[in-house]
Amino acid sequence: MKELTPRQIVTELDRHIVGQHDAKRAVAIAIRNRWRRQRVADDMRNEVAPKNILMIGPTGVGKTEIARRLATLTGAPFIKVEATKYTEVGYYGRDVESMVRELVENAIGLMREQELERVKPEAERRVEERLLELLAPQPASLDVGVDSPNTPERFERTREKMRQMLAAGDMEQRNVEITVEQKAHAMVLPGTGPGNDSMEFDFQGMLEKVLPKHVSRRQMTVAEARKVLFEQETEALINAEKVNAQAIELAENVGIIFVDEMDKVVASEGGRGADVSRQGVQRDLLPIVEGTVVNTRYGYVRTDHVLFIAAGAFHKTKPSDLMPELQGRFPIRVELKDLTKDDFVRILTEPKSSLTKQYTALLKTEGVDVDFTPDAVDALANYAFEVNQRTQNIGARRLYTILERLLEELSFEAPDMQLGRVEINAAYVKKRLEEVSKDEDLSKFIL
Ligand SMILES: Nc1ncnc2c1ncn2[C@@H]1O[C@H](COP(=O)(O)OP(=O)(O)OP(=O)(O)O)[C@@H](O)[C@H]1O
Ligand SMILES: [Mg+2]
Repeated sequence: MKELTPRQIVTELDRHIVGQHDAKRAVAIAIRNRWRRQRVADDMRNEVAPKNILMIGPTGVGKTEIARRLATLTGAPFIKVEATKYTEVGYYGRDVESMVRELVENAIGLMREQELERVKPEAERRVEERLLELLAPQPASLDVGVDSPNTPERFERTREKMRQMLAAGDMEQRNVEITVEQKAHAMVLPGTGPGNDSMEFDFQGMLEKVLPKHVSRRQMTVAEARKVLFEQETEALINAEKVNAQAIELAENVGIIFVDEMDKVVASEGGRGADVSRQGVQRDLLPIVEGTVVNTRYGYVRTDHVLFIAAGAFHKTKPSDLMPELQGRFPIRVELKDLTKDDFVRILTEPKSSLTKQYTALLKTEGVDVDFTPDAVDALANYAFEVNQRTQNIGARRLYTILERLLEELSFEAPDMQLGRVEINAAYVKKRLEEVSKDEDLSKFIL
């Protein structure tokens, strides 16, 4: 896990997300606290519970975006789930525990990648040896005689020559025959497909072990064989048991589960029907957030120290409508703010791959250099803000619809235009957007 200080985390997040400083600080502290916890004495470590975070804010202001960026940043096992995806145990749908299984899968992926890096040089060396054996096989017997064509010395020389040609890439198109193994996973039993993962044991894994492996000899080029052999060699070099154990430890101690749409599992006043099942999801969520043991195909996983970040708009309901027990498990509350016109200006231009940069790069592939003038960006931000005020406030998502509308004509015409450069200035923006944005009905549909 990368050791970033809270300040470094905030700086990294700043490169992609405008504003929302409080939220960035809160997640940065929570991440750093995991690192701190790893460094305190054993008996203390077990006592330190993660400080789960509840992010509250209107739609389209960066809640999910912060979580998404955080994931790539920290290198910790991370998954993002929607609370609405789950149903109470016994109802049709995914059970809440499956989020822990997903987290472990993610951790396995991380650990495997790490192991792969570690064994790569050795695996590559073994692959070259095996390829050599295929290209210049050792004869069954070697004659120890002066005149024989079959002397050990001769064989060694041929092999060395072959080794050099192989290393130089001269043998890539040569054909070789290798043994490949097919796992029995083509067969999926009823009830073992995705979505039904609440089984007590790993049925699919068991099947793979019991059913005979399908082995066949296949002709392929050296280039193709290298990939297949590499996989076989890494498989042999990586200790799957060790990877599993480390992955579980990683998931338990530094894993992060981001629960989006948390407000959608809050029942509104006097709710019934679907609302009952939603309350049920909260009830099922509680033990996982509090700390429980979940059985996964890789072993038991304790959730006591998994960090949960929940997010929701909470405009119809309030965090206080959550079950009291659940509220207590999310002690850190951060509010994300509505985006202002100035924020829009910055979102359009500042992030590493801001919308204007994206469109510029896309149109560049057609040989058109698009140039957004500052007054055009200002005008765009203004339209976005106004339309948000007048119709529905969808935050930064409004910029997507506005820009799509603005560049619709250009996107269509670009390949046929013999233009080298197009300047998007305030006048251009006005021409393309004035009419639609003035007309309330029209803007409801188009922008
Ligand atoms: N502060 C911001 N800085 C940069 N981009 C932003 C910001 N807020 C939102 N965006 C952009 O707007 C889009 C929507 O944001 P995001 O998915 O984070 O919304 P959200 O807060 O999770 O909303 P919802 O409650 O609807 O899930 C994203 O593509 C994101 O890049
Ligand atoms: Mg979201």
